[in-house]
Formats: sequence, structure tokens, C-alpha cells
Amino acid sequence: MTNLISDHNRFLRGAQVVLGVAAATMMTVGAAFASSPGRMVAQPQAPNAQQQKQRPVMRPAAFIPVQLAAGIAEAPMGLTSNGHLPLGSVDDAEGASSFYAAMKVFDAVENVADGLGPVYNAQSCRECHQAPMSGGASQMTVLRAGGYVDGQFVAHAGGSLIQDRAIDPSLQEFVDAHSDDVTAQRLSLSILGDGFVEAVPDQTFFDIAAAQPESMRGEVVMVDVLEAPGVQRVGRFGWKSQHASLLSFAADAYLNEMGITSPLFPQENSSDGNSVAAFDSVADPEDEAQSASPFGIDVHIFADYSRSLAAPPRIISALSRSDVNTGQALFEQVGCAMCHTSELVTAPAGTLLNGGTFTVSHALGDKRIHPYSDYLLHDIGIGDGIHQTGSPEARNKMRTAPLWGLSMRNRYMHDGQSYTLEEAIRRHAGQAEQVRRRFEDLSRPERRQMLLFLRSL
Ligand code: HEC
Ligand code: HEC
Repeated sequence: MTNLISDHNRFLRGAQVVLGVAAATMMTVGAAFASSPGRMVAQPQAPNAQQQKQRPVMRPAAFIPVQLAAGIAEAPMGLTSNGHLPLGSVDDAEGASSFYAAMKVFDAVENVADGLGPVYNAQSCRECHQAPMSGGASQMTVLRAGGYVDGQFVAHAGGSLIQDRAIDPSLQEFVDAHSDDVTAQRLSLSILGDGFVEAVPDQTFFDIAAAQPESMRGEVVMVDVLEAPGVQRVGRFGWKSQHASLLSFAADAYLNEMGITSPLFPQENSSDGNSVAAFDSVADPEDEAQSASPFGIDVHIFADYSRSLAAPPRIISALSRSDVNTGQALFEQVGCAMCHTSELVTAPAGTLLNGGTFTVSHALGDKRIHPYSDYLLHDIGIGDGIHQTGSPEARNKMRTAPLWGLSMRNRYMHDGQSYTLEEAIRRHAGQAEQVRRRFEDLSRPERRQMLLFLRSL
């Protein structure tokens, strides 16, 4: 029987505490990996504990992900509000000050009269963020293209995102056979729990990167907070960590996925670089500012809704519980958690973020989350060649995919081209080569346990 576990603590605290102690006693700075023969993470009923004990543990040398400070609670998990917006009812749409009212705006289907297009990918946020609730992920992919001229990335005319749909056939965008040497598909991402991710202080990401061995070190990218001109924060959203703020992302998505302009993106996308003005019948910005919503009424509601989503629930059957625990220990041991960071802590309530435009609420502040990502960019050998953020090398890097919510998806990696978790792991090369080999060296039953752990996320 399967049950949704909403109390992560109950399941993990034992293992996490042991881990924290192990990490604290192990400060092997400078070595490729912090190896500690014989130190084992909590291993309830491990079938071959003897063998596992001899495997060196691989984890960051100095970064201790577990903070046992008092007052840091587990973030709520589930398919519901985290309390940032009260649940409310679907009908109290005024300013969408409740969760269900905001969900209705996130779900709203836009038409030409509302400003849809002229070029666009879909009619509502929900179309790509739905499984199993509004804000989740989906199998929808989007297409990007560009080329390299003298080693410099040049985006497809009018932007690397090729909109797949247009309100008039004459506006249809096409990949350019001559100049677009690089094309890439990107899978829709889940937004569940992202309010907590937004509330993680920048310093945490610098600390994680500093503690990673050089051969695996992630790239921290600084990106503009669009609603606070001149302010940058550590990017964490999108496959290239191209945004730090959920409001920035919402405004970007409203224009680039749906063709709806707002104060932060007042200009329509072109069609392959050509003006679409003749087809743009709604005055820009289509999502208008109001005094309480200076960046667009809908954009504010999308941001509020995103910030209100609880963390993805764990799915653990009573039968699999001990295998899942062992699988998690193996995940830590072979070094997956070097990049797929198991715990992050949000800033305290009241902290001003995004250049002072957003105050961390009580629902979001001082919470532990388990996204299994460092949100940094890594080259694991399958980067998509599109340059958006960071160093020139970042073209071939991708953000460490957060693994929470894996139970709700059946296609993996940025291109959605891996249909099993094992396949996704076997595609890890480059900075993850050594860790992947350690995964491959596990016995079959151990690999199965690790996959059960991943499936439980
Ligand atoms: C056509 C499909 C599509 C639509 C419509 C769409 N998105 Fe997305 N969304 C994506 C894809 C694909 C990504 C990953 C994009 C990337 O990184 O290149 C994404 C990523 C995101 C992220 C980042 C999540 C994370 O954890 O990194 C947020 C936030 C988001 N979308 C919000 C929205 C909002 C709000 C809307 C409605 C205004 C919207 N999206 C509409 C496909 C879509
Ligand atoms: C060097 C950093 C690094 C290490 C080590 C690493 N990963 Fe990853 N992982 C990534 C990156 C980056 C991605 C995203 C790649 C992409 O989509 O192109 C990823 C993606 C994944 C995905 C796909 C998730 C999704 O949303 O599609 C899974 C599953 C995964 N990793 C599991 C593992 C496991 C298990 C291990 C240990 C055996 C591991 N990873 C080790 C960086 C790492």
C-alpha cells in the first residue's frame, strides 16, 4: 500500500543526524573526495552491510548540509498550499489573495483577445505545469536554437526560444537550417516547493560550490532580478539557472511561452526576427500594472501561486521503506549528493529578498527542504549547447536537476530523452563520470535500492 508521507522528519531525521556527525568529523580539504573508510550512513537492515562498510564515502569535504539549529522546521510537503497564501476559495479572485483563486489564474486559458501570441507555445501556465496539480511538471518540451560564430553563441533570430505556435500561419517560426547549428529540447519543470528555493540565501550556494572538489565544482551564476534593476542574485530557476526570482520567471514565461507582455517584458516576441505588429491587436503591456501589482496583475498572481506551493510529497510504501532507506544511504555514499544536495535551509521570515521587493513570509522562512540539487551548473557531458547565463563554458552545462518530485515524472534529463531512471544515471559523464562509475559498481540489489529511493522522491 502506498501512502503520502507529509512528515519528512519521521523518515529522515535519523539518517540525517548520523550524516551530519559523519561530515563534521571529516574535513579532508584538498583531496579529490572526502573519503572515510568504515564510516557508514544509517543503514537499517542493509543486506550486505559488510561490503558497504568498506566502500569509501564520497561527500563534500567541508560543506555540512545539515544544520541542526533550533527553530528550523521541515517545510510542509503535499499537493497543496504551504500556507504562504491561505487556501480560500476559487471564487474570491479579487487580487487572488487565496491559493485556489491564484490557481484559477495560473490555469486560465488565454485567447487572442487577451493578448495571446502573436507567437506562443501554449495558452496557459497549466498546459505545461500540471502533473498532478497546477504547478507540477509535464511531458511538454520547448525548442531552443542558435549557432556559433567565431566561438560566440548567436541566438536564433528573435531569441533562442522558437515558439511552436502562432496566431496566424504567416508568423510561424522555423529553425534556420543555415545558422542554427544547435537545437535543444527542454522539458517543463515542476514549480512545487519553489517558494522555498527562492528563499535560500545566496551564500548557501557559494558554500556548496566551495566545498565541492574542483573536478566536480558547480558554477554559481549571478542573474538579474528584473523587478529590482541593478540587483543580481544567484540564479536557481530554469535548466540553466537563468532566474533567481519567481516573479522574474513568471513575467519571462508569460511573454515567451504565451506571448503576453507585462511591464517587465513590454515588447512582443518577433517571428524569426520579423515584426509581428500587424497581428498584435492588444495594447502592450497586455498584463497591466496596478498600484499593488506594479509588474502586472497576473504576473504577481503567478509569483504568489508559485511561492505558495508545498514541497513535493514523498511516496513510500510500507514494504519498500527499508530498501528506500538503504538506497538513500547508497546515494550519499557513491557521491550523488555531491551535486544533488539533500538539504537546504531557507532564510528567516522577514528577510528581504530580490532587492527588497519580496519579504520572506512565515510560511517560507526558516524551513528545511530536500530538493536534491545544488542548483549550480555542471558539465556532465550532455549540456545542450545553448548559452544563456554564466561563463562561456556554461553553454555545455546544465543545472543539477532537483530530484524531488521524481515520482511524478516518467521522462528525465533536460531533453526528456531518458525514459528510465537508470538510463538517466548512465548518461552522467564529465564532472559526474567518477560518481556514475561508482553507481555502476554497485551490486544489482544495491542499484535497485537506489532506484527505489529515487522513485520515492
Ligand atoms: C509551453 C510550455 C510552458 C508554459 C505554457 C509555461 N511554462 Fe514554465 N516552464 C516550461 C519549461 C520548458 C521550463 C524550463 C525552461 C528552461 O529552463 O529553459 C519551465 C520552467 C518554469 C519555471 C522554473 C521552475 C524551476 O524550478 O526551475 C517557472 C517558475 C515557470 N516555468 C513558471 C511558469 C509560469 C508562471 C507560466 C505561465 C505564465 C509558465 N511557466 C508557462 C514550460 C512552460
Ligand atoms: C557532477 C554533478 C552530478 C553528480 C555527481 C550527479 N548528478 Fe545527477 N544530474 C546532474 C545534472 C547537471 C543533471 C541534469 C542533466 C541534464 O538534464 O542534462 C542531473 C540529472 C539527474 C537525473 C535526472 C532528473 C530529471 O529531473 O530528469 C537523475 C535521476 C540523476 N541526475 C540522478 C543522479 C544519481 C543517482 C547520481 C549518483 C549516481 C547523480 N545523479 C550524480 C548532476 C550530477
